Amino acid sequence: MSKIFPQKADSPLAKKFPEGFLWGAAASAHQVEGNNHNDWTEWEFENSKIKSQNAKLKQWPDFILEKYPNPLQEENYISGKACDHYNRYEKDFDIAKSLGHNAHRFSIEWSRVEPEEGKFNSEAIEHYRKVIHALRARDLEPFLTLWHWTMPVWFVKKGGFEKSGNIKYFVRFCEHIAMEFKGNVKFWVVLNEPEIYAGHSYLKGIWPPQKKNLIPYLSVIVNLIKAHRESYKIIKKINSGAQVGIAKNNIYFEAHKNKVHNLMLKKFIDWWWNFYFLNRIKNHQDFIGLNHYFHNRIKNFKFNQNENKKVSDMNWELYPEAIYYVLKSLKKYNKPVYIIENGLADAKDENREWFIKESLQNIHKAIAEGVDVKGYFHWSLLDNFEWDKGFWPRFGLVEIDYETLERKLRPSSYVYAKIAKNNSINDTKKEEEK
Ligand code: BGC
Repeated sequence: MSKIFPQKADSPLAKKFPEGFLWGAAASAHQVEGNNHNDWTEWEFENSKIKSQNAKLKQWPDFILEKYPNPLQEENYISGKACDHYNRYEKDFDIAKSLGHNAHRFSIEWSRVEPEEGKFNSEAIEHYRKVIHALRARDLEPFLTLWHWTMPVWFVKKGGFEKSGNIKYFVRFCEHIAMEFKGNVKFWVVLNEPEIYAGHSYLKGIWPPQKKNLIPYLSVIVNLIKAHRESYKIIKKINSGAQVGIAKNNIYFEAHKNKVHNLMLKKFIDWWWNFYFLNRIKNHQDFIGLNHYFHNRIKNFKFNQNENKKVSDMNWELYPEAIYYVLKSLKKYNKPVYIIENGLADAKDENREWFIKESLQNIHKAIAEGVDVKGYFHWSLLDNFEWDKGFWPRFGLVEIDYETLERKLRPSSYVYAKIAKNNSINDTKKEEEK
């Protein structure tokens, strides 16, 4: 791992991050681009009405209802023009640059590139070429995600990732993109959070195709493992210098009071949720891309026995210590780790500054203890379309006015900018002691 300690600090309170550390934000095509046509857009049209009606059965705080669109409105559930990032990417990258970022994670929308089976759309490819150039022109290192959950309608009609025979179509898409961009992109993320996708779409039944069935759930996981491995091999064949990884959602499962029965359950769920997929692809990844959001305390055979002292607008517990434990648990893979998602829905920007700082303190602690963390990408640069929840959850460092599409920097974006520009963070504990 890179040598980081000791290093000259700007102030006695500053904790330096390793030289060359990547600072950025992450996004995905469907959530920001606008005007996509894929399996999700079809599902959104079918479900927006019922979703807005169901939302009426819940209590919503005023600060959510007073924004447009809100959960009671059908428009909330239709991605539509989203942030119009497809047309405004240059301005958005200007913002990222002004905020001291030196990297950016984005995804390629498969349904744009291959809208019909086997027919690749050169205009879409040229668009993404310009996107990559725009990033490079601003010294933002591109992290290119090949699959962030959305799929062309033709692929889904064939059974999507439920069918092992369909893996070849995804691999062909990856091969095509790798050929096109081999000279311009170093970091490749093949799959985004396969276990979240499989769980939401095939077990919980809340995302398309809304199944609740263990058999397709397991097939999808197995097929995504194969898809990752095959794509890894082909990208490396095309460009041996490429760094290829995954975006893996790992959770800190905590065994309450370290009691034996809690520890046993932790061991099992750690194996299945955190490590199974990573173990199966361990020879087919150059780095681990970590997406981290959750802490889950196990108490008396029950999950999620958390104290929830602070929560996000989506009621997700804000527990920045968790990332330290997750990072430590990845050390055994002996691979560089890039944190390629971490963030919170916080429309009022009340907790974001605190959350970023505390998360980075914990990341720094893991680095000091030998975990080779090489980058941090906040989720997200812009407010965006949060899947089945729609537009109301506000994850952006930058606020979007969905009526005018105006971008407005949130105060926390400047705090993160300062950290990125200094490549260091103040030691908050020492600050408190003073
Ligand atoms: C996903 C993003 C999503 C974010 C917040 C991650 O699981 O990759 O697409 O918006 O979490 O829910």
